[in-house]
Amino acid sequence: MKRRPQLVCVVGARPNFMKIAPIYTALERPGTIDPILVHTGQHYDEAMKDTFFRQLGIPEPDLDLEVGSGSHAVQTAQIMQRFEPVLEDAAPFAVLVVGDVNSTIACGLVAAKKQVPLIHVEAGLRSGDRTMPEEINRVLTDQLSALLFTTERAARDNLLREGIAEDKIHFVGNVMIDSLLGHLDQAFPPAETLARHGRKWPLNSNNNASDYAVLTLHRPSNVDDPEVLGRLLQTLTEISRRMPIIFPCHPRTDKMIERFGLDGLIAASGIISTPPLGYLEMLGLIRSARLVLTDSGGLQEETTALGVPCVTLRENTERPITITEGTNTLVGSDPDAIFTCVEDILNGGGKRGRIPARWDGKAAQRIVQVIEKKLL
Ligand code: UD1
Repeated sequence: MKRRPQLVCVVGARPNFMKIAPIYTALERPGTIDPILVHTGQHYDEAMKDTFFRQLGIPEPDLDLEVGSGSHAVQTAQIMQRFEPVLEDAAPFAVLVVGDVNSTIACGLVAAKKQVPLIHVEAGLRSGDRTMPEEINRVLTDQLSALLFTTERAARDNLLREGIAEDKIHFVGNVMIDSLLGHLDQAFPPAETLARHGRKWPLNSNNNASDYAVLTLHRPSNVDDPEVLGRLLQTLTEISRRMPIIFPCHPRTDKMIERFGLDGLIAASGIISTPPLGYLEMLGLIRSARLVLTDSGGLQEETTALGVPCVTLRENTERPITITEGTNTLVGSDPDAIFTCVEDILNGGGKRGRIPARWDGKAAQRIVQVIEKKLL
């Protein structure tokens, strides 16, 4: 029997999992391609990895490279070293990478040097900020790619400006939103999530169940500097006196809060800190929140898709459509800007936004169709 052509699909870190899940399903449906799932092991904890595989229905990886944490150089180098023999054994017709994490560029670089066509999902996003490790990963991965799938129209212009040939670029929509739409009906009610972490529900005395904000914070620029993190948490503490803030805390941030002695500040505030939450827990929390405060890329898109106001605690975004069409507002880390934006949302309801083009749950199907047409 003739072997089906093999496509190596790479995942490494939490935001990759919701992107690969719908692609995997879409690949399995027509069955013309044999997907091989490789997890680099960049994220490895139950809460950062296994919960997501389970909730998103991603099969056990065919291979786990088990690289774990490390500096950028160490992590990237180890992924490359362990990924190279995988390509030699599998001889796939292409390698597919998603997003902008270290696993994306590391595997992309190995594939390109082995002359295996590279497919990049979520190509062309640019913050213009090269102090962000992800920006370097994005620019370089796009340069190496044979097929580039974009989520918003501005991405194509960015790629053309960087000399990428137009016929490699395909505007397919957003696989992260495929996952969101496919799992909304399974999202966990906030009461259940909070109860599991020993919190009563509703959180506030006026009994309005939706009267809370969700906070996530993990960008090195926000959490690795004691002054910046201290100022942000001080500001958020003040906001939490008006409205409880649920704060699923990333392991990097958790470590920094402890190192800088900021735990006391949170304990004395209306910020309810929990360990990292699963995909279905987060979806349920965000959907019903009054607003979301975040420095995550994915949450800017998920809040736009859900019509929930998003206050982005960054100076720039690589996802401009969430501002021009969605519910997102950039405020940076300046306390006054954060207070003003939150106040506007609480008083006026915030931006309503509209759903961007092709964020319709069908991005993964389009991707598979293009791969079959262009690479098989
Ligand atoms: C990585 C991505 C970032 C993404 C984020 C989502 C890069 C350059 N950064 O950042 O784009 O938004 O993931 O979470 O790829 N840790 C654990 N358990 C884990 C994984 C990590 O405790 O399962 C801790 C370790 O202490 C580690 C730290 O988190 O040192 C940072 O992990 P790392 O993967 O290096 O970067 P993130 O900050 O998670």
